[in-house]
Amino acid sequence: MNYEEARNKMSAIGQTHVFRYYDELPDDSKAALIQQVSETDFSVLSKLGKGANEERGVFSPLAAMQLTEIKARENELRDAGIRTIKAGKTAALLLAGGMGTRLGSDDPKGMYDIGITKPVYIFERIITNLLDVVNETDTWIRLFIMTSEKNHDKTVAFLKDHKYFGYREDRISFFKQDMAPACDFDGKLYMEAKDRISTSPNGNAGWYSSMVRAGLDRILTDEGIEWIDIFAVDNVLQRICDPCFVGATVLADVSVGAKVVRKAAPDEKVGVMCLEDGRPSIVEYYELSEEMMNAKDANGDPAYNYGVILNYLFRVSELASVADDKMPLHIVKKKIPYIDENGNTVKPAEPNGYKFEQLVLDMIHQLSSCLPYEVVREKEFAPIKNPTGIDSVESARELLKLNGVEL
Ligand code: UTP
Repeated sequence: MNYEEARNKMSAIGQTHVFRYYDELPDDSKAALIQQVSETDFSVLSKLGKGANEERGVFSPLAAMQLTEIKARENELRDAGIRTIKAGKTAALLLAGGMGTRLGSDDPKGMYDIGITKPVYIFERIITNLLDVVNETDTWIRLFIMTSEKNHDKTVAFLKDHKYFGYREDRISFFKQDMAPACDFDGKLYMEAKDRISTSPNGNAGWYSSMVRAGLDRILTDEGIEWIDIFAVDNVLQRICDPCFVGATVLADVSVGAKVVRKAAPDEKVGVMCLEDGRPSIVEYYELSEEMMNAKDANGDPAYNYGVILNYLFRVSELASVADDKMPLHIVKKKIPYIDENGNTVKPAEPNGYKFEQLVLDMIHQLSSCLPYEVVREKEFAPIKNPTGIDSVESARELLKLNGVEL
C-alpha cells in the first residue's frame, strides 16, 4: 500500500487525522504508519452505536457435574485424566495478552509481585500450579503463552530471567495475539504516537485464530494434542490441566469442559452456564428472569447456579469450526493512552474511549456440547483485577494464605 492508497482507506471512514503529523515524520516512521493502516481491520468502528447485544435465543438449564459426584467418582476421573495427560494429549494455554488496566501496573500482569515477605509473582503462582500436575503425571505438558505486541518482549524477558520458574523452556511456546484499533467516544481513532494509531489486544477469544496465524497449530497436530486448557493469567489459585477435570471432560465426550463455581446467592452478578437454543452458552446476570432465578433442578437446587471462571478445556478437533465473524463484538469503555494536539502522551485516569474485543466465552456457544465442572470457589478462584477491594491483590492474598501458600 502506498501513501495515496492509505489516505483513501482512511478517508473512506472519515479518519484522515491519523496523517496529521505525516509530513514531519522520518521515512521509516512514514512507512510504519502506512503499514499499520494497511494491516489493520477498521471495520470494528462501524459497529459503534449499533448496540453490542445480539438478539438472545431461548435459555434452558445445563446441568453441572457437582462436587458430590466428582468426589464419588474421583479415582475414575483422575485415572482417565492422568492417562490422557501421560499420552501427551493435553496442552495448557495461558491468556496473557490483556492490558490489565484496572490493576494499573505498566508491566504485564503476570510480573506483578503479590508477595509480602518475599517476592511471589503472578506468573510464578500459575507455573507452580501447573508444575504440580507435571510432577503428579511425570509429563511435561506443552504450555502456550499468548501475549500481545504491547507486552510480549517484557513477558518473554521476565520469564527467561526467572528461568521460567522451573518450567522446561523447550515446552513453552509464545505467540502474539492480534490487535484492534481504539477510539474516543465519538468513534475517532486515537493516536498513541505521531506514527502510530492506538491499538489494543482484540480480546481473549483471539487466541485460536492468532495461534493459527503464528503457525503453532502445527504443534498441536505434530504432538497429537487433543485437548487444550485455556486459562486467565490473573486467577492465582487455579488448577490447570488438573487430572480430574481432564478426565471428567474426556469421559463426558463433550466439545468443551468449563470450570464453574456455585453462585454465592441467586442474584449474584455473575454470568452463568446454560443452554441457549440447545447450545452451551452463558446468560448474564441481568438477563436472568425472575422465573429463571427461581427454577430448580432435579435435586431441588437452583437450575442456573454455576458461574464460569475462565478455565476451559477445549477439544482441539472442534476449534476449526469456531468462526470469529460469528462471535459478538464487545465494545468496552477503557482508559486509552493517546497523544494530544501538542504531541504529548496522555495517560487518562478515567475511561476515555472504546476498545473492541471478542471474548472466549462466546466461543462456547459455537460448540455443540459442554460439561460445566464444579470447583470450590475458595480453593480455585482468586482473580486479581484491582489493587484493592473485590477481586484484588488483597483478596487474592487472603485466599492464598487460606490455602497454605506462603507470601
Ligand atoms: P480481563 O478482561 O480481565 O483482563 O481478561 P484485562 O483486559 O487484562 O484487564 P483490564 O480489564 O484491562 O483491567 C481476562 C483474561 O484474558 C486475557 C487477560 O490477560 C486475562 O488473562 N486477555 C484479555 C487476553 O489474553 N487478551 C485480551 O485481548 C484480553
